Amino acid sequence: MQGYADWLTVAPMTPGWARRSRLTALLGIDVPLLTGAFGGMSSVELTATVSDLGGLGAYGLYGYSPDRIRETAARLREATDRPFLLNVWVIDDDDAAGPGPGTADAPAAVRRLFEEAGAPLPSTPERLLPSFADQVDALVDVAPPVAGFVFGLPGEDAVRRLHEVGTAVIGTATTGQEAAALEAAGVDAVIASGAEAGGHKPSFLSPPEDALIGTMALVPQVVDAVTVPVIAAGGIADGRGVAAALLLGAEGVQVGTAFLATEQSAAPAAYRAALRSERASRTVLTRASSGRPARGIANRLTELLGDDVAPFPLQNWLTGRIRAAAAERGDAELIALWCGQAAPLITETDATALFTRLVEDADRLLSQNAG
Ligand SMILES: Cc1cc2nc3c(=O)[nH]c(=O)nc-3n(C[C@H](O)[C@H](O)[C@H](O)COP(=O)(O)O)c2cc1C
Repeated sequence: MQGYADWLTVAPMTPGWARRSRLTALLGIDVPLLTGAFGGMSSVELTATVSDLGGLGAYGLYGYSPDRIRETAARLREATDRPFLLNVWVIDDDDAAGPGPGTADAPAAVRRLFEEAGAPLPSTPERLLPSFADQVDALVDVAPPVAGFVFGLPGEDAVRRLHEVGTAVIGTATTGQEAAALEAAGVDAVIASGAEAGGHKPSFLSPPEDALIGTMALVPQVVDAVTVPVIAAGGIADGRGVAAALLLGAEGVQVGTAFLATEQSAAPAAYRAALRSERASRTVLTRASSGRPARGIANRLTELLGDDVAPFPLQNWLTGRIRAAAAERGDAELIALWCGQAAPLITETDATALFTRLVEDADRLLSQNAG
């Protein structure tokens, strides 16, 4: 643990609440504030910016091959000498492999989407996604300061191997039961992911629709269920949310959507504009993009596809072709606009300004509360 004098010299902006967190010592950071890990939308720049500021920049590796994981870790190490988090999805290998090579059995709505785009339905490759085991091997190889897992238990073997190379391990829970299972699997901290959060609902012990617990109710349940530090996620976009989460017993906070809306994120400009628009005040849970329920802004893509979807990850792979072309055209109607419920609170467009404001506002509120 660092002493008080160290905080003043190492991180002059470090607020009082940060010093109380076990997470700062565990993760080697100054402020227990994490960015979201954005599968397919993470950027080295955003991750490194937040890590440099003393928080924990996270980077989503969904779909990354082992080589790409190695290359990304190297780029992050070049960009920052502070700790960062690499995040992977726990995916069953049969699901990750998909239907195999050939023409996939696409639902009618997806076929119509390709017809409309004037593109043939693509043939599926040998595998849709790299295997989870290969991704874990690559993580052990690159030994990131922190590894994050979502959609399940990483497995005791993976946790042990990561600990052996000095990597701290974080899991994600949507219920107290999931948090307890993650702790039993050996993780060092648990993210409590409330129903307000942008992106996928990562439940793994019950159907996601049965585990839509709001952050306010979920955080204290997870805090009661485990002894390891808890990180609150979902619907937090300003200092009030950060302070409230800490008062609920969280020792850290993960802010996703608000960082995704900053210029440093990898989200296309049209996506960032949608996050900051009036439309972001209404989000829906939809399987349209990936086959699994995720929270986002309704657009033409969600309306056209509705619930007529292929299983995950085939749906994600199929719509990915359409979404990539739309992103290139700057068309926000056919990309996945994943977005949390706190988007209307977004005020900052720069990641440094956002981080500073979150920390200062939370610190002021917590000092007033202590007084
Ligand atoms: C576009 C997008 C992609 C995401 N991808 C991942 C991911 O790959 N892995 C993960 O653990 N969480 C992912 N999340 C969830 C974030 O890490 C974070 O927990 C969440 O955004 C917090 O809620 P908020 O958006 O309300 O701030 C994603 C969120 C968004 C908005």
